[in-house]
Amino acid sequence: MLRRCQASDIPSLYEIELKSFKPDDIYSVELLKFLCSYCYDNSYVYVAGGKVVGYIVTCIEGGRAHVIAIAVDPDFRGRGVGKALLCTALRLLADGKVSDVFLEVRVSNEPALRLYQAAGFKVVELLKSYYSDGEDGYRLSLGDRKKAAEFCGRLSEKI
Ligand SMILES: CC(C)(COP(=O)(O)OP(=O)(O)OC[C@H]1O[C@@H](n2cnc3c(N)ncnc32)[C@H](O)[C@@H]1OP(=O)(O)O)[C@@H](O)C(=O)NCCC(=O)NCCS
Repeated sequence: MLRRCQASDIPSLYEIELKSFKPDDIYSVELLKFLCSYCYDNSYVYVAGGKVVGYIVTCIEGGRAHVIAIAVDPDFRGRGVGKALLCTALRLLADGKVSDVFLEVRVSNEPALRLYQAAGFKVVELLKSYYSDGEDGYRLSLGDRKKAAEFCGRLSEKI
């Protein structure tokens, strides 16, 4: 089940951060709290069996949707949760509320790249030494409303 992020979810989000990212990439409790309230309209958690197992924060910037953070608890990956979360952002595009959805990702992050490429995202920029350990990033963008609608019409959560 998807629902909007609440202040009481922040400890769960931080746990997922710790399990999902390299130490330098982990968002602090304070930053997560700020993002979930500042971008409340498009910040969602995915709840399974009463537990928060994934989250996404998308902020609207000048008519564009910026996916700031997305992560799923490792025990719940590969079951469609990431796709369901990403589709909260893609639906903004499908519904014509934003001109595109964009995000940044490490060039080595195969699972995330597979998900984004399956949705139709394309690399628009190589971000040299974007991450604190010097790794490059990609900026990806999707502006095709039809593709977004098609991808999200095929949601198949296996939770
Ligand atoms: C990226 C992430 C959010 C995907 O979440 P998920 O719940 O496992 O993703 P889904 O089960 O919805 O998978 C959707 C699609 O993504 C791709 N995918 C997901 N995990 C994959 C993996 N380990 N290997 C290859 N492809 C993968 C597949 O195309 C999959 O579609 P399919 O199941 O029809 O084959 C998750 O791996 C994660 O939290 N990673 C750590 C945090 C992170 O890197 N976030 C992204 C930062 S930019």
